[in-house]
This record gives sequence, structure tokens and C-alpha cells, in this order.
Amino acid sequence: MSKPERVTGNPTGFGNPDNFMTYIVNQGWNNYTTAEHDVWRSLFNRQREIIKGRACREFLEGLEALNIDENQIPNFEDTSKLLKQKTGWEVVAVEGLIPDLPFFKMLSERKFPAGNFIRTREQIDYIEEPDIFHDVFGHVPLLANPIFADYMEAYGKGGLRALEFGTVKNLARLYWYTVEFGLINTAEGVRIFGAGILSSPGETIFALESPSPNRIGFDLKRTMQTNYRVDDYQQTYMVIDSFEDLFKQTYADFAPIYGELKNESVEYSPEDLAKQDQIFTKGTQEYAKIKNT
Ligand SMILES: [Fe+2]
Repeated sequence: MSKPERVTGNPTGFGNPDNFMTYIVNQGWNNYTTAEHDVWRSLFNRQREIIKGRACREFLEGLEALNIDENQIPNFEDTSKLLKQKTGWEVVAVEGLIPDLPFFKMLSERKFPAGNFIRTREQIDYIEEPDIFHDVFGHVPLLANPIFADYMEAYGKGGLRALEFGTVKNLARLYWYTVEFGLINTAEGVRIFGAGILSSPGETIFALESPSPNRIGFDLKRTMQTNYRVDDYQQTYMVIDSFEDLFKQTYADFAPIYGELKNESVEYSPEDLAKQDQIFTKGTQEYAKIKNT
């Protein structure tokens, strides 16, 4: 199952939105129990097998470079030390979902907020809120890649602009279809880079191998016009050409595209295909149809 994400920034009642630092807490690494480290190990080992040949090279390199492994729940201090040397990013602990403004501010200053709690063994297959496995295993490895690191900072800055323009909903779709559920076209074939996929064993296989979903070439405006599912596997996955191309399409000031989106007010449903789409796979939508009957 996919996870509802922090992209919509549900306020949690703690912290002051105008000061993002008030959302940052101590990770409390020494408080993790043996049972919690064991849950991490189980999740890590299971996912390591499944992502072989499916995750993009840059993700696997990031895991290695940041010493994210099965031994223990990563200590953010250690991870951040390595990450800072590579791209200037750091991982900061938060207690749960945070509002849009502090979330975008953190990203714009190269701080990635990660939940400091881990799911229980009973929740091993599904947890609604992003926990440390989703946030650190899923998101952090790519922050070691210089181009993706720049993209995430640009996204944070784009978020601050979106708050001014009232286009956060559109920008959240960009995060959803790239950072959470993005695919990338490589010389070896289509691979996964989205954290929502890479932290889910079922969706890792579904996203690449199921005939059900559409897989279409990434286009910034099209993505921002496309609704998504929060409660289940995606009906459409966007495939980027490269991280360079993703960054090129998004680094500029978002203001002109926000203006176009408002004027055109085009909306696509999660399963729609459009005339201009570059189609990698035209999905049968069989999975969604069965689920909806
Ligand atoms: Fe996430």
C-alpha cells in the first residue's frame, strides 16, 4: 500500500509554523529498544532483496555511501555527518507530519525532516504515517546524489513560492510523482527512485512489473495537473529521463508555471492518459478496477 504523505503538510499541533526549528526534536537514538532495531533489520533485509535490479543505481550508491545498513536504526548524527560532506544536506528528527511552511523551509535549507519512530512488528507491511524506515531508507540515500540534492532544495524553494500563489496542491503532485513515486529511464531499463515505492515491497514489484498502471514520460505541467491516489498503489507512474533533466525542468522560478496552471485549470484523474503523453506502458488498470468493484 502507498502511504499518505507529508506532502499535504497536515499540522500536528506542535511547533510554530513561522520558525521551522521549533519542529526539530532530538532523535533519541539511545532510546531505541532491541526489538525496534530488529524491526529495522527485518524491513531492511526484506527490501534489500526486492530492490535488486529495480532501484536506480544512484539510490543504491547512496545507501552504501551513507552506511545505511541492516545493523541498526541509523543515528541521524552519523548519517548527517556523511551527507553534509557529500551534498550539504542533513537529516533532522521530527515527531510527525509538519505544516507546509516549515516543511518547505527545511528543504530550502537542505534539512530533511524524518520521523524518529519506527513501526511495530504488527505494522511491518503497512503504516499510515511515514516512519523512520520510510523516511531514512526511502528518502535519504538519494540526498547523497548532488543533482537530486539540488532538486530537493529547488522543490523547497518552489514550495515557498507556491504558498504565495496558492498552488501548493499542484506542487504536492510534483513531490508525489517524483520524490515519492518516481521512475527513471536508464540504459538498463526503467528503474525506481521514489521513496514511497522503495519502502514498500509490494509496490516495488507492482510499479515496475504489473501491466495495470500507466507509465508515462515526466512532464512538469502534466504532473502538476494530475491527481493521485493516497490509499493504494498508483494508477500512473511518471518516468524521468535523468535527474539532470528533472532538475532542468524544475529549477527555474516556478511563478510562470503557477500562472499557467491557474489560467488553464486542467485536471487529470490518476488513470488518465493524455494525447501528448509519452507512453512507456498503457496500463490495463486491472488492479484498480478489481479493487473498486
Ligand atoms: Fe515520504
